[in-house]
Amino acid sequence: MKFTKILSIVLAIMMLFTFVSCGSGSTDAKDTDTETAVDTSADTAADTEGDNEATDTIVMATNAAFPPYEFYEGENIVGIDAEIAAAIAAKLGKTLVIEDMEFSSIITAVQSGSVDFGMAGMTITEDRLLEVDFSSSYANGVQVVIVKEGSAITTVDDLFAEGATYKVGVQLGTTGDSYASGDFGTDRVTQYATGNEAVLALAGGDVDCVIIDNEPAKAYVAANEGLIILESTYADEDYAICVQKGNSELLAQIDAAILELTADGTIDGIVAKYIK
Ligand code: ARG
Repeated sequence: MKFTKILSIVLAIMMLFTFVSCGSGSTDAKDTDTETAVDTSADTAADTEGDNEATDTIVMATNAAFPPYEFYEGENIVGIDAEIAAAIAAKLGKTLVIEDMEFSSIITAVQSGSVDFGMAGMTITEDRLLEVDFSSSYANGVQVVIVKEGSAITTVDDLFAEGATYKVGVQLGTTGDSYASGDFGTDRVTQYATGNEAVLALAGGDVDCVIIDNEPAKAYVAANEGLIILESTYADEDYAICVQKGNSELLAQIDAAILELTADGTIDGIVAKYIK
């Protein structure tokens, strides 16, 4: 824990340094981890007291290629998760630092303690519960199927049809990936680093459909001509925040914050801002 805190502070300082020095520098967010600090402590009581708590940071791991939950607006990571996390951090009197990484690296980062929690439209699953602990759920997700307009695939059942050979694109390490690999076999599934890459592969004809969460699916379809989302859905899920196994102190704090932010309408307000 000590080490994590020190690391977080070092990261925050490095980040500030980056802001100061990156005016014309080019960044490649695709394959390097990126940190973004969101100062949520400004409006907390602790801050005016000038004690150390308010300058503490809390580090969230995410994969910021998943609109409207987490995505880049310029150099900042914004979205439903980013804002809910900032509100939780504020309740804890901490400054939120967001670390962007591959989705498939988030659980390892949480397990190793190099970050404090993971929040990435992440579904609670049996498999993940063996590796991390989950907070109470703050949102629901639905796995949907994106196809090209006029596709022979018109319902989810078509994918399961006897003799069907349709190729499925997914984001590596997601539930869409594990469900599709289980249902159709890994030969029919192609894993991409991001949902966007999977969608581009669909548009380019490399795969016949993409299985992904409904809200990002809407964003991808809106951004790419000629794609539609099937009406029949593939799976229903619950999103939650994950922490290192056994970190019951942080988990209790996060759960208490989610409860309060639900009761006072903060979470609904954030969701309504991004999902019309
Ligand atoms: N809900 C899915 C899962 O938990 C997909 C989440 C992907 N999130 C992301 N930020 N890329 O596996």
